[in-house]
Amino acid sequence: MDRLRHQQLETQPMWGRSGRGNDGETAASRPHELIAFVGSARRTKAHMLVGEVSATLRQKHRLDVDMLDLSDTGPSLCTLSRAELDSRSLALVETIERCNGLIIGCPVFQGSYPGLFKHVFDLVSPRALRNKPVLITAVGGGLRHSLVVEHQLRPLFGFFEAATVSTAIYACAEDLIPDSEIAELLQARITNAAQQFATLVSNPAATTMS
Ligand SMILES: Cc1cc2nc3c(=O)[nH]c(=O)nc-3n(C[C@H](O)[C@H](O)[C@H](O)COP(=O)(O)O)c2cc1C
Repeated sequence: MDRLRHQQLETQPMWGRSGRGNDGETAASRPHELIAFVGSARRTKAHMLVGEVSATLRQKHRLDVDMLDLSDTGPSLCTLSRAELDSRSLALVETIERCNGLIIGCPVFQGSYPGLFKHVFDLVSPRALRNKPVLITAVGGGLRHSLVVEHQLRPLFGFFEAATVSTAIYACAEDLIPDSEIAELLQARITNAAQQFATLVSNPAATTMS
């Protein structure tokens, strides 16, 4: 069984380290990008869960994912006008819009997604994620709000007409202990969701209505 690879889960600003390829181009400028976006500005267990999904995609499907979070935004994120966004915030929004597949990582706040997480998607063009594969994950303090993935996150990406994968992944904080094994059921869910996501990413026509 896999052990948590928390060393890999440092939040690395995309325009600093992890998003830069060997040839110096940024993730924002690379085509066919798979992006993970975590709705937190500090490193959380939501990053750990997304890291597990990304590791599964890399190991089993040879898919690389760049992880972004709210620390990749700039000071003007809290505007409703794209024209008023600073360059970092705009680049984040545009990277989400241009990606070919999106993994969502979300801490649960007050029974829902964090307000700033939603605000980023308020700035995303309504058609930008149409038919694009989206894998939903969330982490809460306990199990009480586990349906946040189905009752809040899935409808949000339904608005965008995204191709959300059938298996959403919810974990509670105690499921994600650094250097500890992930429970078999959670690991199976990660494996299943990653398989569905990889299938859609490698076959974009499958997400498009004829
Ligand atoms: C403001 C705030 C509100 C929260 N509300 C909930 C909640 O309604 N339901 C829940 O399960 N966890 C809630 N939590 C717990 C977080 O979701 C949980 O601690 C986090 O995802 C685990 O990651 P971390 O400990 O690395 O931050 C809340 C945490 C904060 C800070």
